Amino acid sequence: MVQKQDQLYEGKAKKLYSTDDPSAVIHEFKDDATAFDGKKKGQIAGKGSMNARISAALFTLLENQGVRTHYRELINDRTMLTDKLDMVPVEVVVRNIAAGSLSKRLGYDEGVPLKNTIVEFYYKRDDLGDPMINEDHIAELGIATKEQIKEMRETGLKVNDVLVRFFDQLGLTLVDYKLEFGLKDGVMMLGDELSPDNCRLWDKKTGEKMDKDRFRRDLGRVEEAYREVLARVTGTSKEGGNF
Ligand code: TMP
Ligand code: ASP
Repeated sequence: MVQKQDQLYEGKAKKLYSTDDPSAVIHEFKDDATAFDGKKKGQIAGKGSMNARISAALFTLLENQGVRTHYRELINDRTMLTDKLDMVPVEVVVRNIAAGSLSKRLGYDEGVPLKNTIVEFYYKRDDLGDPMINEDHIAELGIATKEQIKEMRETGLKVNDVLVRFFDQLGLTLVDYKLEFGLKDGVMMLGDELSPDNCRLWDKKTGEKMDKDRFRRDLGRVEEAYREVLARVTGTSKEGGNF
């Protein structure tokens, strides 16, 4: 059993700890929720545990489909053991349907299907407000090579193939999501988490939002939506999972 050691970092949704295995770290998922660069703050009861379990299930699914991820195991219901990565300070957003900032950028109504999957890169810098950047900016910053940028894009699209199909079978439309990557011994792996905090998921039957937009936009029933996503992902949803 790996032993938890020092806190390395506290993020908005997780705490990161070193362990007695120098190649591994522990992520403790919090119930805290923030949005709009931390300007909106709150708590979603049980979110830490739900997001840890949803992430574990999705990382396992992706590993089985040949995507390298940092995931090792769940230690308890809100604590995940992973490989220790050197994170690339880039958020990779993959979009299937217009929503959120893309709708504003292109003037598309939310819900308009995109002709092609769109991959975007954002520079993870709170003090700059996480600006959108392109391949040339990333190379200029020296935070990833051209090959690594290509790999993040291709892995983002591969993840999309797997997750769109998976969620579709669960009665959910995967609208968009954010990925983060890191390096372990020079090898690129998927890091961070995969949960309703960083995806948009819409119920196929009702069109209801089943993700953090319920918190961002004060739509209510936030916890219930996360709980239903967890139930569907783990195959314990009742009655076809109406929400
Ligand atoms: P956006 O439409 O606000 O740009 O968000 C696109 C997707 O990325 C959406 O699924 C939410 C996710 N996301 C994060 O996970 N973290 C962030 O800081 C932002 C802005 C978006
Ligand atoms: N998580 C980000 C924040 O707290 C933004 C978001 O997900 O909307 O600023």
